[in-house]
Amino acid sequence: MPNPLNSQAFFDESGNLTQNLLIKGNNLLALHSLKDRLAGQVKLIYIDPPYNTGSDSFKYNDNFNHSSWLVFMKNRLEIAKELLRDDGVIFVSIDDNEQAYLKVLMDEVFGRENFVNNLIWEKKYAPQNDAKWFSDNHDHIICFAKNKENWRPNLLPRTDEMNARYKNPDNDPRGLWKAGDLLRKDEQISGLFTIVTPNGRICNPPKGTSWRTTKQGYEELVADNRIWFGKDGNNVPAIKRFLSEVKDGVTPLTIWKYTEVGHNQDAKKEVKEFDSKTVFDTPKPEKLLQRIIHIATNKNDIVLDFCLGSGTTCAVAHKMGRRWIGIEQMDYIEDITLTRLIHVLNGEQGGISKAVDWQGGGEFVYFELKKYNLYFMEKIQNAKTMGELDTVYNEMAKNAFFKFWFDKDDFQKAYKKDADNNQISLDERKEILINVLDENQLYLNYADMDDARFKVSDDEKALSKAFYGA
Ligand SMILES: C[S@@+](CC[C@H](N)C(=O)[O-])C[C@H]1O[C@@H](n2cnc3c(N)ncnc32)[C@H](O)[C@@H]1O
Repeated sequence: MPNPLNSQAFFDESGNLTQNLLIKGNNLLALHSLKDRLAGQVKLIYIDPPYNTGSDSFKYNDNFNHSSWLVFMKNRLEIAKELLRDDGVIFVSIDDNEQAYLKVLMDEVFGRENFVNNLIWEKKYAPQNDAKWFSDNHDHIICFAKNKENWRPNLLPRTDEMNARYKNPDNDPRGLWKAGDLLRKDEQISGLFTIVTPNGRICNPPKGTSWRTTKQGYEELVADNRIWFGKDGNNVPAIKRFLSEVKDGVTPLTIWKYTEVGHNQDAKKEVKEFDSKTVFDTPKPEKLLQRIIHIATNKNDIVLDFCLGSGTTCAVAHKMGRRWIGIEQMDYIEDITLTRLIHVLNGEQGGISKAVDWQGGGEFVYFELKKYNLYFMEKIQNAKTMGELDTVYNEMAKNAFFKFWFDKDDFQKAYKKDADNNQISLDERKEILINVLDENQLYLNYADMDDARFKVSDDEKALSKAFYGA
């Protein structure tokens, strides 16, 4: 792991990102910070946000109520859009619980005209027989382009299985080919004519169908040895489709099977080495991210995941030679995510490593956004009278970030009523105030770094300067 403080700057003179960044902190604030430097530069954003299922065993708050969850998503998606390049694209994982709402929210943020697809990922391989209703075995991955007309997916590589369908029974010098249907399923007058096979069999298109070509077109195909009548020259004619002439890849389908992109259990195995306490129940498999990154980016493009979790997106982006930025707020970023990415640099051989011949190398910078709430926490704790506490609250009301459910007007009314009736002790009021501050949400802005109140060390300032390029 390179020492982050040795990094002179994370951006070159033209403003291009020169370092991979692993950031510990609240994603909303981190995204705001990134916006000034990175607007219009990110080619792909993938996120796997809290699904708001309430049943999740992630050690983070996955149980916002529905409207708070939508606000949480909206705030972040709006900045995400600004970060995307004009030919950029965003993929968001979600399950059935919120997918319809998320689609509508994304319509609003990105524009309905930029909706690409709702992809289905088969996340489980075995039915869950104790499920009360259905055994849910898929997730959705909602895909929007920043500007749909400017974005096209890269084709997927052709598989050996697909190529194995091409043979060359007549030793055609143009190589392997596959027989395709010469009939179409509608009656075009120009395609209604009789074909006589080399062995004299008479073939007419069945009712409601016609040949795909005109009589003249057919004769040209025969002259070019592109029509196949079977080994005995007696079959219904078929058209020869040459492997050398098919597209150099496959257009991605919208249903992604676990046999192609892995399932939850594969993913758990991949992170087990770094996640011995099983913090993550449903990390994403490396193969799933490989597909998304392959479809949506080319070498050196920037990939961003601001709900990074165990680090799958960055691990895969790194192995595939993309630049990356990952943001995660929880402390496990140090034990799990950071450790995983250091292993990747050292040539870790799990996940997609063998498939992409990963040998190790590269670097990234890890840093944490300075916590901002601590400042208010300390002030609350140090207050000795109700009056002092009121002063702290007044300052909080102007400058602090609160939990999602917090409503300033309602809170102020209740707070005043309790104070007027003398119904509450100093300690109880302190507890209430601490409770409305979101401990995970609050980090310091660069502009405030020099403010002595925030106690930012010189090392931290140097790192921030490199990041913000100030
Ligand atoms: C479902 S997990 C992502 C798992 C990841 N795809 C993987 O393969 O490991 C969602 C992550 O988003 C993070 N997250 C949620 N809200 C956040 C916030 N406000 N700021 C930063 N990270 C957040 C959570 O802490 C959690 O680790």
